[in-house]
Amino acid sequence: MSDNKDQNKLWGGRFTEATDAFVERFTASIEFDRRLYQHDIDGSIAHSKMLHKVGILSDDEQQQIHDGLESIRAEIKADTFTWSVALEDVHMNIEAALTSRIGDVGKKLHTGRSRNDQVATDLRLYVRDEIDQVAVLISKLQLALVNLAEAEADTIMPGFTHLQTAQPISFGHHMLAWNEMLERDYARLLDCRKRVNQSPLGAAALAGTTYPIDREYTAQLLGFDAASKNSLDSVSDRDFTIELAAFASILMMHLSRFSEELVLWTSAQFAFIDLPDRFCTGSSIMPQKKNPDVPELVRGKTGRVYGHLTALLTLMKSQPLAYNKDNQEDKEPVFDLLDTVKDCLYAYSEMMPAVSCNKDVMYLAAKKGYSTATDLADYLVKKGMAFRDAHEVVGKSVAFGIEQKRDLSELTLDELKSFSDLIEDDVFQVLTLEGSINARNHIGGTAPEQVHKATKAAKSTLNAR
Ligand code: ARG
Repeated sequence: MSDNKDQNKLWGGRFTEATDAFVERFTASIEFDRRLYQHDIDGSIAHSKMLHKVGILSDDEQQQIHDGLESIRAEIKADTFTWSVALEDVHMNIEAALTSRIGDVGKKLHTGRSRNDQVATDLRLYVRDEIDQVAVLISKLQLALVNLAEAEADTIMPGFTHLQTAQPISFGHHMLAWNEMLERDYARLLDCRKRVNQSPLGAAALAGTTYPIDREYTAQLLGFDAASKNSLDSVSDRDFTIELAAFASILMMHLSRFSEELVLWTSAQFAFIDLPDRFCTGSSIMPQKKNPDVPELVRGKTGRVYGHLTALLTLMKSQPLAYNKDNQEDKEPVFDLLDTVKDCLYAYSEMMPAVSCNKDVMYLAAKKGYSTATDLADYLVKKGMAFRDAHEVVGKSVAFGIEQKRDLSELTLDELKSFSDLIEDDVFQVLTLEGSINARNHIGGTAPEQVHKATKAAKSTLNAR
């Protein structure tokens, strides 16, 4: 008996010396891949049902395997299962436990499969479940934004370009811009799910198997859309993790942008909104501080998700067909990016409904920045002036206002007339912030009427999910 037999390695047959202790630790994945246990057991049960269907396992054998796996599942759930590093990974830990429980019948489970198609199956099942959870969280955050948009459709804030006051906008309109970003993220996620949901089971080590397996049956039992089409590709493809990481990176980029705005808006210099105390933290030295830690951390966590995308792309770039042990490195990035995305979405979906708007501050800020200058130019154009000339006239009026420390709406008719005699007393309607936003009344415009229409449409999209 070799040392390896003593170590109980499932692949010990051809070895004459024990695995080096360092190598054992270095090659083991059990510390992190044990979180695949539910999916590993689901995959094994489906595989055993298929082996039974095609006559490889008897009724009794299949039943014993099934019951054995369920008892292992219960133990792992209850945290009473003993994991072994010597058994390397989740697949071999569970298989060895099965055999030690039900005896030699357990050794039949691995007929017609390999850990290569097994791990590919497990990871796809895991990712699919997580995608479904992420989709729910995105929708929840979208609903929070749409509700806020509806409530604040009439709240006026300055819209920015170059972070300089540009034109007045509805705060609700701004929330709907965020919603659009998430709507595309949602679509990307569901698109990725289609390519995740293909069954690699039956590809075996790389070339398929000599047993009369029924791949469509296992695919169907596991809720896959179809069996994958090429055995080599099935055991080696990790595109789906890269797509997932690309989706997650774009989503995090969006959340990071939201975060940047929240950080700005909660600063004393902007003071546009307040975040609830329960989402903020204080300073140990400066008693006046209320820090927007949650948005800051979301912004910060974006970096690690981008890192995982780069890690996965690099992991795959030089691998020859078919399976290589390199692939074991796919798990930690995938797990961490999913954990991160779920936490960030959860934080946002809980925080956004509790945002309160400092309407007066936002209104005043919009007023201060000559945000209706474009409206005055448009007014002159409608009275017959060429746009470039109107731009010039308004530029001069703004310069005068700055000098006088008065907004355009605070200039007298005579003062305004001194820049162009096309200006009459109907000008004051267009110089108000309300007039300005109400005038942008077309699809995608900031008029509150449009914001209400858009929130209605967004809600019916969300309700249809
Ligand atoms: N732990 C391995 C992984 O994550 C399972 C597959 C191992 N296959 C093999 N031929 N060594 O990729």
